[in-house]
Amino acid sequence: MEITPLCSMMGARIEGVDLTAARDNATTDAIQQALVDYGFIVFPDQHITPEEHIAFGAQFGPLNVHPHMESLEGHPEILNIKKEPEETANFGGGWHTDLTFLEEPPLGSILYAREVPPLGGDTLYANMIAAYDALSEGMKEMLECMVAIHSASRIYAQGGVYANDKHPAKNKEEQAALATCEHPVVRTHPVSGRKLLFVNPSFTLRFKNMRKSESRPILQYLYNHSTTAEFVYRHQWTVNDVAMWDNRSTQHYALNDYQGHRRVMHRVTVDGDRPF
Ligand code: SIN
Repeated sequence: MEITPLCSMMGARIEGVDLTAARDNATTDAIQQALVDYGFIVFPDQHITPEEHIAFGAQFGPLNVHPHMESLEGHPEILNIKKEPEETANFGGGWHTDLTFLEEPPLGSILYAREVPPLGGDTLYANMIAAYDALSEGMKEMLECMVAIHSASRIYAQGGVYANDKHPAKNKEEQAALATCEHPVVRTHPVSGRKLLFVNPSFTLRFKNMRKSESRPILQYLYNHSTTAEFVYRHQWTVNDVAMWDNRSTQHYALNDYQGHRRVMHRVTVDGDRPF
């Protein structure tokens, strides 16, 4: 197994691993360590079936079934992220960390590039550990004990980004989307012990015990700061890439710059722990 860093801030390419074959424990451990060390890892030129995709994900923990989006037929664990040439909106087209509106947000997600446009459709990843490290001591001290309220409402409730004709908000989903949960603003990574910023503009609504209007300027500062170019890796997909990101320590943003072309990605999402 050969690991090649992709940029100075985050990301690594892993070669010499066939994801269709059984892996020994040492290889699985090395992959898990690379995920924590680099935040984003990509295995190029993999040819996996949905069952092999699910089996690979299940090595890291139980798999999530997305509470609001359509799955691949017959495979509830696989999110079918598909944009047709005539569609204009894409999935994940804003900075976010997956499913932070859950009490236990995912450990990571594994995306398999099945069809990519000739150009465009890249995904940006931001390193939230580096973003935290670069804050002033005063800002770190202020954020240390703060708690943020997260919810799916902005994206999945009635009037949200995905509550459109293709994904109509159903009553039950509508209720779930309006639920909120609390997470620390500064989270400790459960494996590396590193501190990191754990807020994102898609699902974080406000700080606990503060109004939205009071929270907004500080949150906006943190969003701008954490997505400055120095903390970001841009992945240009090649068909048959299998990539995994550490959802505890990163945010991502799927660019929507390939109108008139098809893009199909399959995502398996691994459950995580309650942030502390
Ligand atoms: C997502 O999981 O947010 C979408 C990522 C992508 O399609 O690149």
